Amino acid sequence: MNVENLLKKLESLRRSLRFKLIFGLLTIVFLMGALSVYLGVSSINRNVIREAYDNVKNSLKAINDLYQEEIKSRARIVEYLSRTSEIVNATASGNREYLYEKLLQIKEEFGFDIVNVVKPDGTILVRANNFEAYGDSVAHYKYIQWVLRNKKPAAGTGVLGYENIKKEGQDLAERTLIPIIPTPKARPQRKEMEERALVLKTVSPIFQRGRLVGVLYAAVLLNNNDRFVDRFKKLIFKEEKIKGKDVGTITIFLDDVRVATNVVDKNGRRAVGTLISEEVYKKVYEHGQDWLGRAFVVNDYYLSGYTRITDIEGQPIGMLYVGILEAKFSGILRRTALMYFLLIFLMTVIAIYVSTYLVNLYTRPINRLIKATAEIARGNYHLLDIPPEESAEIRELEEYFNEMVKAIEERDQRLKDLAERTILRSEKLASVGRLASGIAHEINNPLTGILTYSSLLAEELKGTPYEEDLKTIKEETLRCRKIVRGLLDFARDYKPEKVSTNLNSLIEEALQLLEKHVNFHNIKIVKDFDPNLPEVKVDADEFRSVINNLAVNAADAMPNGGQLTISTRFDPSANQVIIRVADTGIGISEENLKKIFEPFFTTKEKGKGTGLGLAMTYGVIKRHNGTIDVKSKVGEGTEFIIKLPVE
Ligand SMILES: Nc1ncnc2c1ncn2[C@@H]1O[C@H](COP(=O)(O)OP(=O)(O)O)[C@@H](O)[C@H]1O
Ligand SMILES: [Mg+2]
Repeated sequence: MNVENLLKKLESLRRSLRFKLIFGLLTIVFLMGALSVYLGVSSINRNVIREAYDNVKNSLKAINDLYQEEIKSRARIVEYLSRTSEIVNATASGNREYLYEKLLQIKEEFGFDIVNVVKPDGTILVRANNFEAYGDSVAHYKYIQWVLRNKKPAAGTGVLGYENIKKEGQDLAERTLIPIIPTPKARPQRKEMEERALVLKTVSPIFQRGRLVGVLYAAVLLNNNDRFVDRFKKLIFKEEKIKGKDVGTITIFLDDVRVATNVVDKNGRRAVGTLISEEVYKKVYEHGQDWLGRAFVVNDYYLSGYTRITDIEGQPIGMLYVGILEAKFSGILRRTALMYFLLIFLMTVIAIYVSTYLVNLYTRPINRLIKATAEIARGNYHLLDIPPEESAEIRELEEYFNEMVKAIEERDQRLKDLAERTILRSEKLASVGRLASGIAHEINNPLTGILTYSSLLAEELKGTPYEEDLKTIKEETLRCRKIVRGLLDFARDYKPEKVSTNLNSLIEEALQLLEKHVNFHNIKIVKDFDPNLPEVKVDADEFRSVINNLAVNAADAMPNGGQLTISTRFDPSANQVIIRVADTGIGISEENLKKIFEPFFTTKEKGKGTGLGLAMTYGVIKRHNGTIDVKSKVGEGTEFIIKLPVE
C-alpha cells in the first residue's frame, strides 16, 4: 500500500468514526426530544382540556345558581308585597284604582313585565299593564292553579301562550314573537315562529284575617330579555373578549329555541330564534342530564354546558346554556405548547452542543494518532505531544504509540546503516576488483617469463654461489603468481558453472582434506547439517575454495586450539539455504570488521596472509546471488553467515 492510499484510508476511517459517534448521539438526542414533545404536548393538551371543562362546569353551576337566586329573591319581594296592608285591603275591598296605582309602582320599581291581582275565583281583578282589561279568567295558569289550591306562594319558570301575553299589552306581545332562523347543525325546524313566551313567575296568595281574598301575580318575560342574560354574563365572565368576540356567552332556551342570548351571529346580531342541535336537545331536554362538551353554537365552536329548566310540575320547558369560546383554550394550549417547544428546542441545542464537544474530545486523540501515523508513513518520526488535560487512558495509549514510533525509528536507522554499508562495500569492491583483474592479466605473462628464465638459469648455474639467489627469485615469483591468481579468482567476470549440488556432502569433502592439515591438529570440528537441505546450484570448485578459505581463517584465528562449527539450514519462508561457519578464535575488532572483505586487507604477518581470501569469497557468493555476513566479538569468536537462494 503506498503512502497516499494509506493516508486516504486513515482519513476516511477518522471521518466514519466521527460520523458514527455524532450520528449515534444525535439519534438519541432527537428520539428523546421527540418523545418528550409527544408526552409533553399530550399532557398539556389533557390538562388544558380538563381545566377548560372544569371551567365550563363551574360556570354552568354559577349561572343555574344565579337563575334560581333571581327567582327566589323575586318570590320574596312578591310574598312581602302580598302581605302589605295596602295590597291586602285594596284587594279585599276591590279598590281597582288604588291597586292599579300600586301595581304600576311595583312593576317599575322591581322590574317586572307583568303584575296582576287575581280574585280567588281565578279572574283578573287589576292589570298593571292595562286598567281596562279585567274580569277574564287566568285560572288555567299552572302557577295560579297551584297557589289557589295550596294557599301557599309559588315561584319558577313557566310558559305563556301568545293569546295570554297579548292580553298583557301589545309591546309584550311584540317582544314575545321570535322568528325561527335556520343555522348549520341545528335541529330540524318545525315551525316558522315561536309565539310562546318563557316567563319567570312569582305568585303569592293575599290573605285578610286568614281568608284568601286574592293572588298577587308578577312575572318577567324572558323572550328577547337582553338585560337578563347580559347581567349574568357580566357577573360570571366579566368583559373578556377574543378578537372582538365575547369569550363567555349565556343563553336561555324555550324548548329548543334560543329566546334570550348573547351569542351573536356573523353579522353581530344576537342569535335569538336559532335552534339547538338534536344531540344536545335529546340528552338535556328529554333526559334531564347536564351536557358538557365541544359544541358548534351558531357559527363557532364553544366549550359548552347545558342544563334543563323545569316548571312547577317538573315538566321540561327550557334550558340554560353557558359557552366559553374554544379559542380561549386553544390560545392557552398554543402558548403553553410553544413554551414547551422552545424549552425542548433549547435542550436539544444544548444536547447537540454537548455531544459534538464529547465527540471531539474523544476523536481529537484519534486525529492526532492518525496524523502522526501519516507522518511516520512519510518517514518523519515525530513523537506525539501528549496534552496533560487528556484522560489517563488516552495518555497511556499515546505513550505506547510514542514507544512504537521510537522502536520503528531505531529499526529503520539500523536498516539504513546496513544498506549504506552494503552499498558502499559492494561499490568499493567492484572498482577495486576491476583494477585488480586488469593488473593481474598484465602481470601474469611477464611472471611466467621470469619463472621460466630463472628456472633455466638455476639449472645452468647449479652448484655456483648464484644458485641460492636464483632459487629465491623463483620462490618470490611463484608467490607473485599465487597473488595474481587470487586476484583473478576474486574479480573473475565469467559466469560460474552452476550444477545442482548437495552442499552437505561438498562441505564434508572439503573438510576431510583440511582435517589432516597441521593447523587443525588441536581444533575440534563440529558439523551440524540439515538432513533435509535442498540441492543448490553452485560451481563446486569455487564453493570448495570458499569453505577452504573460511576454515583456514578460522584455524588461523585459533592458534591455541578451539572449536570450528559448520552448520547448514534450510529456511523455507525465504526459500534459501543458510551456511554458518563459526569459530571460538580471537575475533575481529569493530574497526577491521568493515575492511575484511577488501582485497589485500590482512592482519597476518608478512608472507603468511595475502588478504585475498575473503575478497575472493565475497566475489563467489555474489556471483551465486547470495549474501555473506559476519558477526564477531574480540576474544570470543567469529561467525560467517552465507545465504544462498534455492532455485
Ligand atoms: N575467522 C577469523 N577470525 C579472526 N580474524 C579473521 C577471521 N577471518 C578473517 N579474519 C581477518 O580478516 C583478514 C582478511 O582475511 P583474508 O581475506 O582471508 O586474508 P588473509 O587470511 O590472507 O589475511 C585476516 O587477516 C584476519 O585479520
Ligand atoms: Mg585467509
